[in-house]
Amino acid sequence: MAFALRVLVAVILVLFSWSAHSLSRDEFPSDFVFGASTSAYQVEGAANEDGRKPSIWDTFSHAGNANIYKGDGDVSCDGYHKYKEDVQLMANMGLDAYRFSISWSRLIPDGKGAINPKGLEYYNNLINELTSHGIQPHVTLHHWDLPQTLEDEYEGWISRKIVYDFTAYADVCFREFGDRVKYWTTVNEVNVFATFGYGFGTVPPQRCSPFSLANCSRGNSSTEPYLAAHHMLLAHASVARLYNKKYKGVQHGFIGLNVLTIGFVPLTNTSGDIIATQRAQDFWIRWVINPLTLGDYPDIMKKNVGSRLPSFTKEESNLIRNSIDFLGINFYNTFSVNNYPESLDMEDRTFMQDMAAEMTMLPENDTFIDAVLDTFKNDYGNLPIYIHENGFKTPHNSSLNDFSRIKYLHKYIGSIAKAIRNGSNLKGYFVWSFLDVFEILSGYEESLGLYYIDFKDPNLKRQPKLSAKWYSNFLKNKSVDP
Ligand code: NOJ
Repeated sequence: MAFALRVLVAVILVLFSWSAHSLSRDEFPSDFVFGASTSAYQVEGAANEDGRKPSIWDTFSHAGNANIYKGDGDVSCDGYHKYKEDVQLMANMGLDAYRFSISWSRLIPDGKGAINPKGLEYYNNLINELTSHGIQPHVTLHHWDLPQTLEDEYEGWISRKIVYDFTAYADVCFREFGDRVKYWTTVNEVNVFATFGYGFGTVPPQRCSPFSLANCSRGNSSTEPYLAAHHMLLAHASVARLYNKKYKGVQHGFIGLNVLTIGFVPLTNTSGDIIATQRAQDFWIRWVINPLTLGDYPDIMKKNVGSRLPSFTKEESNLIRNSIDFLGINFYNTFSVNNYPESLDMEDRTFMQDMAAEMTMLPENDTFIDAVLDTFKNDYGNLPIYIHENGFKTPHNSSLNDFSRIKYLHKYIGSIAKAIRNGSNLKGYFVWSFLDVFEILSGYEESLGLYYIDFKDPNLKRQPKLSAKWYSNFLKNKSVDP
Protein backbone atom coordinates (compact mmCIF):
# COMPACT_ATOMS: atom_id res chain seq x y z
CA MET A 1 0.00 0.00 0.00
CA ALA A 2 2.77 2.37 1.03
CA PHE A 3 4.55 1.48 -2.19
CA ALA A 4 1.42 2.14 -4.30
CA LEU A 5 1.02 5.49 -2.58
CA ARG A 6 4.61 6.41 -3.32
CA VAL A 7 4.12 5.50 -7.00
CA LEU A 8 0.97 7.62 -7.13
CA VAL A 9 2.75 10.61 -5.60
CA ALA A 10 5.64 10.19 -8.04
CA VAL A 11 3.23 10.08 -11.00
CA ILE A 12 1.44 13.22 -9.78
CA LEU A 13 4.76 15.01 -9.35
CA VAL A 14 5.90 14.05 -12.84
CA LEU A 15 2.59 15.20 -14.31
CA PHE A 16 2.80 18.45 -12.37
CA SER A 17 6.32 19.22 -13.50
CA TRP A 18 5.35 18.37 -17.09
CA SER A 19 2.39 20.74 -17.04
CA ALA A 20 4.48 23.44 -15.35
CA HIS A 21 6.84 23.40 -18.31
CA SER A 22 4.49 22.97 -21.19
CA LEU A 23 3.24 26.01 -23.00
CA SER A 24 -0.04 26.69 -24.70
CA ARG A 25 -1.32 29.44 -26.93
CA ASP A 26 -4.46 29.63 -24.80
CA GLU A 27 -2.38 31.53 -22.25
CA PHE A 28 -2.33 34.54 -24.60
CA PRO A 29 -5.12 37.00 -25.39
CA SER A 30 -7.09 35.98 -28.49
CA ASP A 31 -5.97 39.07 -30.48
CA PHE A 32 -2.27 38.53 -29.67
CA VAL A 33 -0.33 37.99 -32.93
CA PHE A 34 2.45 35.48 -33.42
CA GLY A 35 4.70 35.85 -36.42
CA ALA A 36 8.20 35.68 -37.83
CA SER A 37 10.55 38.36 -39.21
CA THR A 38 13.01 39.06 -41.98
CA SER A 39 14.39 42.18 -43.67
CA ALA A 40 14.74 43.13 -47.32
CA TYR A 41 18.50 43.00 -47.86
CA GLN A 42 18.83 39.87 -45.75
CA VAL A 43 16.24 37.82 -47.63
CA GLU A 44 15.28 39.22 -51.05
CA GLY A 45 18.37 38.80 -53.23
CA ALA A 46 17.69 39.98 -56.82
CA ALA A 47 20.03 42.82 -55.97
CA ASN A 48 20.56 43.93 -59.54
CA GLU A 49 17.23 43.02 -61.02
CA ASP A 50 14.22 44.93 -62.26
CA GLY A 51 15.58 48.41 -61.69
CA ARG A 52 16.79 48.08 -58.08
CA LYS A 53 19.86 50.19 -57.31
CA PRO A 54 22.42 49.55 -54.55
CA SER A 55 21.91 50.36 -50.91
CA ILE A 56 24.75 50.99 -48.47
CA TRP A 57 24.62 47.25 -47.62
CA ASP A 58 25.39 46.29 -51.24
CA THR A 59 28.37 48.62 -51.20
CA PHE A 60 29.59 47.31 -47.88
CA SER A 61 29.27 43.63 -48.67
CA HIS A 62 31.11 44.07 -51.96
CA ALA A 63 33.96 46.02 -50.43
CA GLY A 64 35.90 43.04 -49.09
CA ASN A 65 34.81 43.07 -45.47
CA ALA A 66 35.21 39.30 -45.30
CA ASN A 67 36.89 39.50 -41.91
CA ILE A 68 33.70 41.03 -40.53
CA TYR A 69 31.18 38.88 -42.32
CA LYS A 70 31.04 36.40 -45.12
CA GLY A 71 29.21 36.95 -48.36
CA ASP A 72 26.72 39.40 -49.76
CA GLY A 73 22.98 39.70 -50.28
CA ASP A 74 23.01 39.46 -54.08
CA VAL A 75 21.00 36.22 -54.03
CA SER A 76 20.56 35.35 -50.35
CA CYS A 77 17.26 33.39 -49.98
CA ASP A 78 15.99 34.71 -53.31
CA GLY A 79 12.84 35.83 -51.54
CA TYR A 80 12.16 38.20 -54.44
CA HIS A 81 11.33 35.23 -56.67
CA LYS A 82 10.20 32.76 -54.03
CA TYR A 83 7.73 34.91 -52.12
CA LYS A 84 4.73 32.75 -53.04
CA GLU A 85 6.41 29.61 -51.79
CA ASP A 86 7.44 31.43 -48.60
CA VAL A 87 3.96 32.77 -47.90
CA GLN A 88 2.57 29.26 -48.39
CA LEU A 89 5.03 27.97 -45.78
CA MET A 90 3.96 30.74 -43.40
CA ALA A 91 0.32 29.84 -43.90
CA ASN A 92 0.99 26.14 -43.37
CA MET A 93 2.89 26.97 -40.24
CA GLY A 94 -0.02 28.99 -38.87
CA LEU A 95 1.64 32.43 -38.64
CA ASP A 96 -0.73 35.31 -37.91
CA ALA A 97 1.70 37.92 -39.15
CA TYR A 98 4.90 38.42 -41.12
CA ARG A 99 7.33 41.25 -40.42
CA PHE A 100 9.43 42.29 -43.41
CA SER A 101 10.99 45.48 -44.67
CA ILE A 102 10.78 47.42 -47.90
CA SER A 103 13.97 47.98 -49.82
CA TRP A 104 13.95 51.75 -50.33
CA SER A 105 16.28 51.46 -53.33
CA ARG A 106 14.07 48.83 -54.98
CA LEU A 107 11.02 51.07 -54.69
CA ILE A 108 12.73 54.42 -55.35
CA PRO A 109 16.13 53.49 -56.78
CA ASP A 110 17.77 56.89 -56.25
CA GLY A 111 16.22 57.38 -52.83
CA LYS A 112 14.10 60.23 -54.17
CA GLY A 113 12.29 60.96 -57.39
CA ALA A 114 11.06 58.29 -59.75
CA ILE A 115 9.27 55.21 -58.45
CA ASN A 116 10.35 51.84 -59.87
CA PRO A 117 7.17 50.15 -61.23
CA LYS A 118 8.73 46.71 -60.77
CA GLY A 119 9.47 47.48 -57.14
CA LEU A 120 5.91 48.61 -56.65
CA GLU A 121 4.65 45.44 -58.29
CA TYR A 122 6.81 43.19 -56.11
CA TYR A 123 5.63 44.66 -52.81
CA ASN A 124 2.02 44.73 -53.99
CA ASN A 125 2.31 41.06 -54.91
CA LEU A 126 3.91 40.14 -51.60
CA ILE A 127 1.33 42.05 -49.57
CA ASN A 128 -1.56 40.59 -51.58
CA GLU A 129 -0.18 37.10 -51.19
CA LEU A 130 0.02 37.58 -47.42
CA THR A 131 -3.43 39.08 -46.97
CA SER A 132 -5.06 36.49 -49.21
CA HIS A 133 -3.65 33.85 -46.84
CA GLY A 134 -4.93 35.77 -43.83
CA ILE A 135 -1.43 36.84 -42.73
CA GLN A 136 -1.05 40.42 -41.42
CA PRO A 137 1.82 42.36 -43.02
CA HIS A 138 3.93 44.29 -40.47
CA VAL A 139 6.19 46.52 -42.50
CA THR A 140 9.46 48.22 -41.59
CA LEU A 141 10.37 51.18 -43.78
CA HIS A 142 14.05 51.27 -42.99
CA HIS A 143 15.98 48.19 -41.93
CA TRP A 144 19.34 49.98 -42.38
CA ASP A 145 19.57 49.66 -46.19
CA LEU A 146 19.78 53.30 -47.18
CA PRO A 147 19.95 53.99 -50.94
CA GLN A 148 23.61 54.49 -51.82
CA THR A 149 22.79 57.61 -53.84
CA LEU A 150 21.67 59.44 -50.69
CA GLU A 151 24.84 58.36 -48.89
CA ASP A 152 26.88 59.69 -51.81
CA GLU A 153 24.94 62.91 -52.18
CA TYR A 154 24.80 64.12 -48.59
CA GLU A 155 26.14 61.36 -46.31
CA GLY A 156 22.73 59.86 -45.55
CA TRP A 157 21.68 59.94 -41.91
CA ILE A 158 24.42 62.40 -41.02
CA SER A 159 22.54 65.09 -42.87
CA ARG A 160 19.24 66.63 -41.92
CA LYS A 161 18.21 66.43 -45.56
CA ILE A 162 17.37 62.79 -44.91
CA VAL A 163 14.28 63.83 -42.95
CA TYR A 164 12.66 65.22 -46.08
CA ASP A 165 13.57 62.28 -48.35
CA PHE A 166 12.58 59.65 -45.79
CA THR A 167 9.21 61.31 -45.34
CA ALA A 168 8.65 61.43 -49.12
CA TYR A 169 9.54 57.71 -49.35
CA ALA A 170 7.14 56.87 -46.51
CA ASP A 171 4.44 58.88 -48.28
CA VAL A 172 4.77 56.61 -51.32
CA CYS A 173 4.55 53.50 -49.13
CA PHE A 174 1.46 54.71 -47.28
CA ARG A 175 -0.24 55.79 -50.50
CA GLU A 176 0.50 52.58 -52.38
CA PHE A 177 0.27 49.91 -49.67
CA GLY A 178 -1.58 51.52 -46.76
CA ASP A 179 -4.98 50.17 -47.78
CA ARG A 180 -3.66 46.71 -46.77
CA VAL A 181 -0.76 47.43 -44.38
CA LYS A 182 -1.86 48.60 -40.93
CA TYR A 183 1.35 48.20 -38.92
CA TRP A 184 4.25 50.43 -39.93
CA THR A 185 7.62 50.64 -38.23
CA THR A 186 9.70 53.57 -39.38
CA VAL A 187 13.26 52.50 -38.41
CA ASN A 188 14.65 49.19 -37.16
CA GLU A 189 16.94 49.25 -34.11
CA VAL A 190 17.75 52.96 -34.11
CA ASN A 191 20.26 52.44 -31.29
CA VAL A 192 22.21 49.61 -32.97
CA PHE A 193 22.27 51.23 -36.40
CA ALA A 194 23.59 54.46 -34.84
CA THR A 195 26.28 52.83 -32.69
CA PHE A 196 27.43 50.05 -35.01
CA GLY A 197 27.11 52.05 -38.23
CA TYR A 198 28.46 55.40 -36.98
CA GLY A 199 30.42 54.59 -33.82
CA PHE A 200 32.04 51.15 -34.03
CA GLY A 201 32.04 51.10 -37.84
CA THR A 202 31.14 47.42 -38.04
CA VAL A 203 28.06 47.77 -40.27
CA PRO A 204 27.28 50.14 -43.13
CA PRO A 205 27.79 52.98 -43.69
CA GLN A 206 30.87 51.90 -41.70
CA ARG A 207 31.75 55.28 -40.32
CA CYS A 208 33.93 55.60 -37.25
CA SER A 209 37.17 57.07 -36.00
CA PRO A 210 40.53 55.39 -36.67
CA PHE A 211 40.70 54.01 -33.11
CA SER A 212 37.34 52.21 -33.36
CA LEU A 213 36.69 48.51 -33.91
CA ALA A 214 36.73 48.61 -37.69
CA ASN A 215 38.97 50.26 -40.18
CA CYS A 216 37.11 53.35 -41.32
CA SER A 217 38.30 56.02 -43.64
CA ARG A 218 35.68 58.55 -42.63
CA GLY A 219 33.46 59.45 -39.74
CA ASN A 220 33.68 60.58 -36.15
CA SER A 221 32.78 58.16 -33.35
CA SER A 222 32.43 60.98 -30.84
CA THR A 223 29.65 62.81 -32.64
CA GLU A 224 28.07 60.80 -35.43
CA PRO A 225 26.19 58.09 -33.49
CA TYR A 226 24.31 60.87 -31.71
CA LEU A 227 23.74 62.85 -34.89
CA ALA A 228 22.52 59.86 -36.91
CA ALA A 229 20.13 58.77 -34.13
CA HIS A 230 18.87 62.35 -33.80
CA HIS A 231 18.00 62.46 -37.50
CA MET A 232 16.34 59.04 -37.31
CA LEU A 233 14.15 60.29 -34.47
CA LEU A 234 13.27 63.48 -36.34
CA ALA A 235 12.57 61.52 -39.53
CA HIS A 236 10.38 59.11 -37.58
CA ALA A 237 8.45 62.02 -36.04
CA SER A 238 7.99 63.65 -39.43
CA VAL A 239 6.64 60.39 -40.91
CA ALA A 240 4.28 59.90 -37.95
CA ARG A 241 2.94 63.44 -38.43
CA LEU A 242 2.41 62.77 -42.14
CA TYR A 243 0.56 59.52 -41.43
CA ASN A 244 -1.62 61.02 -38.76
CA LYS A 245 -2.59 64.03 -40.86
CA LYS A 246 -3.00 62.46 -44.25
CA TYR A 247 -3.72 58.74 -43.85
CA LYS A 248 -4.79 57.74 -40.37
CA GLY A 249 -8.43 58.81 -40.80
CA VAL A 250 -8.78 56.69 -43.93
CA GLN A 251 -6.41 53.79 -43.42
CA HIS A 252 -6.70 53.38 -39.63
CA GLY A 253 -3.17 52.04 -39.22
CA PHE A 254 -0.50 52.36 -36.53
CA ILE A 255 3.00 53.82 -36.48
CA GLY A 256 5.86 52.49 -34.39
CA LEU A 257 9.61 52.63 -34.06
CA ASN A 258 11.94 49.78 -33.15
CA VAL A 259 14.73 49.63 -30.61
CA LEU A 260 17.04 46.84 -29.46
CA THR A 261 16.39 46.20 -25.79
CA ILE A 262 18.84 44.36 -23.60
CA GLY A 263 18.59 42.90 -20.15
CA PHE A 264 21.08 44.69 -17.87
CA VAL A 265 22.23 43.45 -14.47
CA PRO A 266 25.00 44.93 -12.33
CA LEU A 267 28.13 42.78 -12.22
CA THR A 268 28.49 43.31 -8.46
CA ASN A 269 26.41 44.89 -5.72
CA THR A 270 28.68 47.91 -5.49
CA SER A 271 27.00 51.25 -5.97
CA GLY A 272 29.43 51.95 -8.85
CA ASP A 273 28.14 48.96 -10.84
CA ILE A 274 24.52 49.61 -9.91
CA ILE A 275 24.74 53.21 -11.15
CA ALA A 276 26.66 52.09 -14.24
CA THR A 277 23.78 49.72 -15.02
CA GLN A 278 21.29 52.60 -14.91
CA ARG A 279 23.62 54.58 -17.14
CA ALA A 280 23.76 51.70 -19.63
CA GLN A 281 19.95 51.64 -19.71
CA ASP A 282 19.92 55.39 -20.31
CA PHE A 283 22.47 55.25 -23.10
CA TRP A 284 21.12 52.18 -24.87
CA ILE A 285 17.40 52.34 -24.39
CA ARG A 286 16.22 55.64 -22.91
CA TRP A 287 18.29 57.41 -25.60
CA VAL A 288 15.47 56.44 -27.95
CA ILE A 289 12.49 55.90 -25.65
CA ASN A 290 12.73 59.14 -23.68
CA PRO A 291 12.41 61.42 -26.72
CA LEU A 292 9.42 59.34 -27.88
CA THR A 293 7.63 59.51 -24.55
CA LEU A 294 9.01 62.61 -22.79
CA GLY A 295 10.32 64.67 -25.70
CA ASP A 296 13.98 64.77 -24.64
CA TYR A 297 17.17 62.78 -24.05
CA PRO A 298 18.01 61.45 -20.55
CA ASP A 299 19.81 63.91 -18.25
CA ILE A 300 22.85 61.66 -17.83
CA MET A 301 23.39 61.68 -21.60
CA LYS A 302 23.21 65.47 -21.68
CA LYS A 303 25.76 65.62 -18.89
CA ASN A 304 28.22 63.04 -20.24
CA VAL A 305 27.97 63.90 -23.93
CA GLY A 306 27.66 67.65 -23.52
CA SER A 307 27.55 69.73 -26.67
CA ARG A 308 28.13 66.64 -28.86
CA LEU A 309 24.55 65.58 -28.13
CA PRO A 310 22.15 67.40 -30.48
CA SER A 311 19.14 69.02 -28.87
CA PHE A 312 15.48 69.27 -29.82
CA THR A 313 13.76 72.60 -30.33
CA LYS A 314 10.48 73.02 -28.47
CA GLU A 315 8.57 72.32 -31.65
CA GLU A 316 10.60 69.16 -32.43
CA SER A 317 10.20 67.96 -28.90
CA ASN A 318 6.41 68.33 -29.16
CA LEU A 319 6.42 66.58 -32.50
CA ILE A 320 8.41 63.60 -31.33
CA ARG A 321 6.71 63.16 -27.98
CA ASN A 322 3.90 60.63 -28.31
CA SER A 323 4.71 60.01 -31.99
CA ILE A 324 4.35 56.23 -31.61
CA ASP A 325 1.21 54.14 -31.47
CA PHE A 326 3.36 51.17 -30.44
CA LEU A 327 6.95 50.40 -29.63
CA GLY A 328 8.75 47.59 -31.45
CA ILE A 329 11.44 45.90 -29.41
CA ASN A 330 14.02 43.31 -30.33
CA PHE A 331 15.39 41.20 -27.52
CA TYR A 332 18.16 38.61 -27.63
CA ASN A 333 20.51 38.82 -24.66
CA THR A 334 21.24 40.00 -21.17
CA PHE A 335 24.51 41.67 -20.18
CA SER A 336 26.21 42.26 -16.88
CA VAL A 337 27.43 45.83 -16.45
CA ASN A 338 30.38 47.20 -14.57
CA ASN A 339 31.52 50.71 -13.92
CA TYR A 340 34.22 51.98 -16.24
CA PRO A 341 35.97 55.11 -15.10
CA GLU A 342 35.52 58.13 -17.33
CA SER A 343 38.58 58.78 -19.41
CA LEU A 344 39.90 61.06 -22.11
CA ASP A 345 38.93 64.58 -22.88
CA MET A 346 35.22 65.09 -23.07
CA GLU A 347 35.42 66.02 -26.75
CA ASP A 348 37.21 62.83 -27.84
CA ARG A 349 35.12 60.22 -26.10
CA THR A 350 33.21 57.55 -27.97
CA PHE A 351 29.71 56.33 -27.19
CA MET A 352 30.96 53.57 -24.85
CA GLN A 353 33.31 55.99 -23.09
CA ASP A 354 30.47 58.46 -22.62
CA MET A 355 28.43 55.63 -21.15
CA ALA A 356 31.34 54.86 -18.81
CA ALA A 357 30.35 51.22 -18.42
CA GLU A 358 31.52 47.86 -19.71
CA MET A 359 29.08 45.17 -20.79
CA THR A 360 29.58 41.39 -20.80
CA MET A 361 27.07 39.05 -22.39
CA LEU A 362 25.58 36.50 -20.01
CA PRO A 363 24.83 32.89 -20.96
CA GLU A 364 21.57 32.29 -22.82
CA ASN A 365 19.88 30.66 -19.86
CA ASP A 366 19.43 33.97 -18.08
CA THR A 367 16.15 35.47 -19.26
CA PHE A 368 15.48 39.03 -18.24
CA ILE A 369 12.90 39.99 -20.80
CA ASP A 370 10.20 40.14 -18.12
CA ALA A 371 12.25 42.71 -16.20
CA VAL A 372 12.56 44.83 -19.35
CA LEU A 373 8.83 44.57 -20.00
CA ASP A 374 8.12 45.55 -16.41
CA THR A 375 10.19 48.70 -16.92
CA PHE A 376 8.11 49.65 -19.95
CA LYS A 377 4.94 48.97 -18.01
CA ASN A 378 5.96 51.03 -15.01
CA ASP A 379 7.97 53.88 -16.53
CA TYR A 380 6.28 54.54 -19.86
CA GLY A 381 2.55 54.38 -19.24
CA ASN A 382 2.31 50.77 -20.39
CA LEU A 383 2.45 51.62 -24.10
CA PRO A 384 1.58 48.86 -26.58
CA ILE A 385 4.59 46.69 -27.44
CA TYR A 386 5.41 44.27 -30.21
CA ILE A 387 8.40 42.00 -29.75
CA HIS A 388 9.64 42.30 -33.31
CA GLU A 389 12.61 39.98 -32.97
CA ASN A 390 13.68 37.22 -30.64
CA GLY A 391 15.72 34.22 -31.66
CA PHE A 392 18.67 31.95 -31.16
CA LYS A 393 21.87 31.95 -33.18
CA THR A 394 23.63 28.71 -34.13
CA PRO A 395 26.40 27.95 -36.61
CA HIS A 396 24.91 27.55 -40.06
CA ASN A 397 24.75 23.92 -41.23
CA SER A 398 24.15 22.66 -37.71
CA SER A 399 21.55 19.96 -37.22
CA LEU A 400 17.96 20.42 -38.35
CA ASN A 401 17.09 19.06 -34.93
CA ASP A 402 17.67 22.43 -33.25
CA PHE A 403 16.73 21.53 -29.69
CA SER A 404 18.67 24.48 -28.28
CA ARG A 405 16.56 26.92 -30.34
CA ILE A 406 13.35 25.24 -29.17
CA LYS A 407 14.49 25.51 -25.57
CA TYR A 408 15.29 29.19 -26.06
CA LEU A 409 11.97 30.04 -27.75
CA HIS A 410 10.03 28.05 -25.19
CA LYS A 411 11.66 29.97 -22.38
CA TYR A 412 11.09 33.39 -23.95
CA ILE A 413 7.48 32.74 -24.96
CA GLY A 414 6.91 31.49 -21.41
CA SER A 415 8.41 34.71 -20.03
CA ILE A 416 6.20 36.93 -22.12
CA ALA A 417 3.12 34.95 -21.09
CA LYS A 418 4.13 35.73 -17.53
CA ALA A 419 4.65 39.43 -18.36
CA ILE A 420 1.16 39.61 -19.86
CA ARG A 421 -0.27 38.01 -16.72
CA ASN A 422 1.53 40.74 -14.78
CA GLY A 423 -0.19 43.45 -16.82
CA SER A 424 2.27 44.20 -19.67
CA ASN A 425 0.61 45.65 -22.75
CA LEU A 426 2.14 43.20 -25.21
CA LYS A 427 0.43 42.84 -28.55
CA GLY A 428 2.58 40.45 -30.54
CA TYR A 429 5.70 38.34 -30.83
CA PHE A 430 7.87 37.61 -33.88
CA VAL A 431 10.65 35.05 -34.15
CA TRP A 432 13.79 36.19 -35.91
CA SER A 433 14.09 34.77 -38.42
CA PHE A 434 11.55 33.01 -40.60
CA LEU A 435 14.31 31.59 -42.85
CA ASP A 436 18.04 31.32 -42.47
CA VAL A 437 19.07 34.65 -43.98
CA PHE A 438 22.15 36.68 -44.78
CA GLU A 439 23.00 37.60 -41.19
CA ILE A 440 24.43 40.97 -40.28
CA LEU A 441 27.94 40.53 -38.83
CA SER A 442 28.25 36.86 -39.80
CA GLY A 443 26.81 36.53 -43.32
CA TYR A 444 26.09 32.87 -44.06
CA GLU A 445 28.17 31.46 -41.19
CA GLU A 446 25.51 31.71 -38.49
CA SER A 447 21.75 31.41 -38.58
CA LEU A 448 18.64 31.96 -36.52
CA GLY A 449 16.02 30.67 -38.98
CA LEU A 450 13.09 28.35 -38.44
CA TYR A 451 13.76 27.04 -41.96
CA TYR A 452 17.18 25.91 -43.08
CA ILE A 453 18.59 26.92 -46.45
CA ASP A 454 21.71 25.41 -47.94
CA PHE A 455 23.01 28.53 -49.70
CA LYS A 456 25.01 26.37 -52.13
CA ASP A 457 21.86 24.60 -53.32
CA PRO A 458 20.84 26.21 -56.64
CA ASN A 459 17.18 25.75 -55.66
CA LEU A 460 17.66 27.26 -52.20
CA LYS A 461 15.21 24.72 -50.85
CA ARG A 462 13.56 25.66 -47.56
CA GLN A 463 13.79 22.79 -45.05
CA PRO A 464 11.90 22.96 -41.77
CA LYS A 465 13.99 22.69 -38.65
CA LEU A 466 12.49 21.02 -35.62
CA SER A 467 11.87 24.53 -34.25
CA ALA A 468 9.57 25.29 -37.22
CA LYS A 469 7.47 22.23 -36.36
CA TRP A 470 7.55 23.12 -32.68
CA TYR A 471 6.41 26.72 -33.34
CA SER A 472 3.72 25.49 -35.70
CA ASN A 473 2.40 23.07 -33.09
CA PHE A 474 2.29 25.87 -30.58
CA LEU A 475 0.48 28.15 -33.04
CA LYS A 476 -2.05 25.43 -33.78
CA ASN A 477 -2.91 25.30 -30.14
CA LYS A 478 -1.13 22.13 -29.22
CA SER A 479 0.57 22.30 -25.90
CA VAL A 480 4.34 22.13 -26.42
CA ASP A 481 7.34 21.21 -24.30
CA PRO A 482 10.91 22.46 -24.48
C1 NOJ B 1 18.93 42.56 -35.36
C2 NOJ B 1 18.61 43.02 -36.75
O1 NOJ B 1 17.44 43.76 -36.80
C3 NOJ B 1 18.60 41.90 -37.76
O2 NOJ B 1 18.84 42.51 -38.99
C4 NOJ B 1 19.61 40.85 -37.40
O3 NOJ B 1 19.79 39.91 -38.41
C5 NOJ B 1 19.19 40.20 -36.11
N1 NOJ B 1 19.15 41.21 -35.07
C6 NOJ B 1 20.03 39.03 -35.64
O4 NOJ B 1 21.34 39.37 -35.47
